[in-house]
Amino acid sequence: MHELYDLEVKFKEELAPEQLLDIIFHYVSLIASEKDLDRLLLIMADLGRDLILADRCTLWLFDKVNHQLWTKVAHGVPPLRIPADTGFAGYALLNNETILVEDAYTDKRFNPAVDLKTGYHTKSVLVIPIQDQNGEIMGTYQAINKLTEEGIFTLKDMHLLTLAASYSGKALESAILNEEIEQTQKEIIFTMGEIGESRSKETGNHVKRVAEYSKVLALKYGLSPSESELIKMASPMHDIGKVSIPDEVLKKPGKLTDEEFEIIKAHSQTGFDLLKNSNRQILQSAAIIAHQHHEKWNGKGYPQGLKGEEIHIYGRITAIADVFDALASDRCYKKAWELDRVINLFKEERGIQFDPKIVEVFLDSLDEILALKEKYVD
Ligand code: C2E
Ligand code: SIN
Ligand code: SIN
Ligand code: FE
Ligand code: FE
Repeated sequence: MHELYDLEVKFKEELAPEQLLDIIFHYVSLIASEKDLDRLLLIMADLGRDLILADRCTLWLFDKVNHQLWTKVAHGVPPLRIPADTGFAGYALLNNETILVEDAYTDKRFNPAVDLKTGYHTKSVLVIPIQDQNGEIMGTYQAINKLTEEGIFTLKDMHLLTLAASYSGKALESAILNEEIEQTQKEIIFTMGEIGESRSKETGNHVKRVAEYSKVLALKYGLSPSESELIKMASPMHDIGKVSIPDEVLKKPGKLTDEEFEIIKAHSQTGFDLLKNSNRQILQSAAIIAHQHHEKWNGKGYPQGLKGEEIHIYGRITAIADVFDALASDRCYKKAWELDRVINLFKEERGIQFDPKIVEVFLDSLDEILALKEKYVD
């Protein structure tokens, strides 16, 4: 901003109608194909900025539960939050009012806190409330500092940003809904996994640790971030099939008889049968993991006796995460092993019980895995 006022003064000219159309077409196609809420917020902020020649533009969303406005300022940065009853953005939200001011510092609704923190100088401001389909206010569009020589926002700007706001409202609402559905799915899946574990009396964080380890192994093995995240979400369900095993078997303090072990082995198939009919990607992945996490690289695992790369990569990864956690923790039938002993087992079983490549990845990632073990200690 200092450049703008003190140094090289470079004002912009108001846009011609065909330039406006260009901008609108450009952003409409971007917005229509974007389902991710965070990215949508950034795209819409850019749309507002370009449309009315603002120096900055922010799309604030209302978080009713915490009575805050929040937004994304950049990708990979945590959301920025402000109280819902401060500043112009808050005023526009709570009063469902458009705000157009020429000099923020002469207006008592202005909250200079952000300026003070950033060294930025706010002058002209335009804020438009955004409504959802039911006419409820869901956020505000806020533009700061008009880049023309006059330096103030016009009624035409107000009109344009209002149009953008009404268009944005719909896209935002469906992205928010999407995100809620996904979040709910994740919670349900995680809870189901916990139920499976609690039946077998394993301590609370086993499911969480297996999920975290599996993600680290997946990433280091070279799977994409989104696929690694998928494994993290699905792996907590690996033992869901244990829900149907009787307590006297599952919680037996000592060694199992062959007959009892056969009963336990059924949990892989039971878990698969519980999950296999869903079309959701997470549950499909969970079905594969439940089915295959006790298969062995040499073909001597269960239930199918799959061998090598016949075993799905999700199953091969979760197998290592699961056994590492089982060995490194107390169980009703055994005490936790010393780390050296655990590592030796993986070295010995490399290429026998486990995929040798993933054992390498595991050994290379030990620091990270042990940090996660600390973090989610029981
Ligand atoms: P879990 O206790 O969570 O163990 C998961 C897997 O970790 C086991 O799959 C096995 O591959 C590995 N593992 C666990 N403890 C040991 C161990 O002391 N030595 C070695 N070499 N590997 C170990 P697995 O064998 O298919 O067992 C599946 C589940 O069956 C176990 O889950 C546990 O719930 C139950 N189970 C297995 N053996 C016994 C037992 O002797 N007593 C009881 N009460 N349950 C057992
Ligand atoms: C305000 O709306 O005045 C506070 C938020 C900001 O300045 O960015
Ligand atoms: C567990 O991981 O807690 C149970 C072992 C298994 O059957 O997968
Ligand atoms: Fe299992
Ligand atoms: Fe497990």
